[in-house]
Amino acid sequence: MEDYTKQLFGGSWTEQKLEILKKYLEAYNTALKNQPFKRVYIDAFAGTGYRQQRQQQYNIQGFFEELEEDESKKFLKGSAKLALETSPSFHKYIFIESNKNKINELEKLRTEHPEKERQIEIIQSDANEFIKNYCNKENWTNTRAVLFLDPFATEVEWPTIEAVAKTQCIDVWVLFPLMAVNRLLAKDPGKISYNRLNRIFGTEDWFEYFYKTRTLDDIFGQSVDIIIKACDFDRIGDFYKNRLRTIFSGVAEKTKVFYNSRESALFQLFFAVGNAKGAPIAIRIAEHLIRKI
Ligand SMILES: C[S@@+](CC[C@H](N)C(=O)[O-])C[C@H]1O[C@@H](n2cnc3c(N)ncnc32)[C@H](O)[C@@H]1O
Repeated sequence: MEDYTKQLFGGSWTEQKLEILKKYLEAYNTALKNQPFKRVYIDAFAGTGYRQQRQQQYNIQGFFEELEEDESKKFLKGSAKLALETSPSFHKYIFIESNKNKINELEKLRTEHPEKERQIEIIQSDANEFIKNYCNKENWTNTRAVLFLDPFATEVEWPTIEAVAKTQCIDVWVLFPLMAVNRLLAKDPGKISYNRLNRIFGTEDWFEYFYKTRTLDDIFGQSVDIIIKACDFDRIGDFYKNRLRTIFSGVAEKTKVFYNSRESALFQLFFAVGNAKGAPIAIRIAEHLIRKI
């Protein structure tokens, strides 16, 4: 039977994103299992290991309604839990989360996976700070990693992405917040979030790319410059992809846009590879998954 709950209430994009991640982690560990590398999974916005899905059901008029009782909440696996279940497994799992309550939930994953207890590192931190520091201090000679960047909105900053690319040893899946960035790119130039956008894109060039200046005559015949927003979601996504291309060995051409139940674009999923040697195969796998799922 068709799952209308997921279709109508926006569950399916979360499932798609996690399915792509899960399949990639399996392929990654399979491909590298006979190589002498320590394989690390890094979940920078780890959540709790599970996610709650409110369920809806038909009422007697045939409309959907949300059930308020606890039983109506379905617990599904989140990225951290799926990573722990990946076979072949990673040698190390790093779960970063800023929220203390979620950290407490993540700790329970150790009990669920006693065989991996010593391989799990759970860190309460800001993801940007931790990742930059970790990328600088890890010995990348014999380490390879997959990083999942799954923020709520615009938390991922460009210096973090740069630190990741610089290692040349990390494959990264990043959910870029299209809708939130589109809001920061205000129509009214006085309301544009310049600093925030600079932190996200790591450059000020976005302004020229997303805004045009038109010269018009005012009612007194004087020329005035007017700044007009000239971008759509495609253009925003293309700009970010091109930014990734400036620092990674490979970036998947194919990406996936996730929409909410009102069919507004929320996030765009990008894949980038640090290691030049491994890039072609990694990108082939990632694009296959993006196309298929
Ligand atoms: C979209 S959720 C992640 C969901 C998770 N990937 C899953 O599949 O279950 C984003 C998470 O990032 C956490 N978060 C928000 N800002 C953060 C930051 N600056 N550093 C680390 N974690 C942060 C939130 O508490 C939230 O749990």
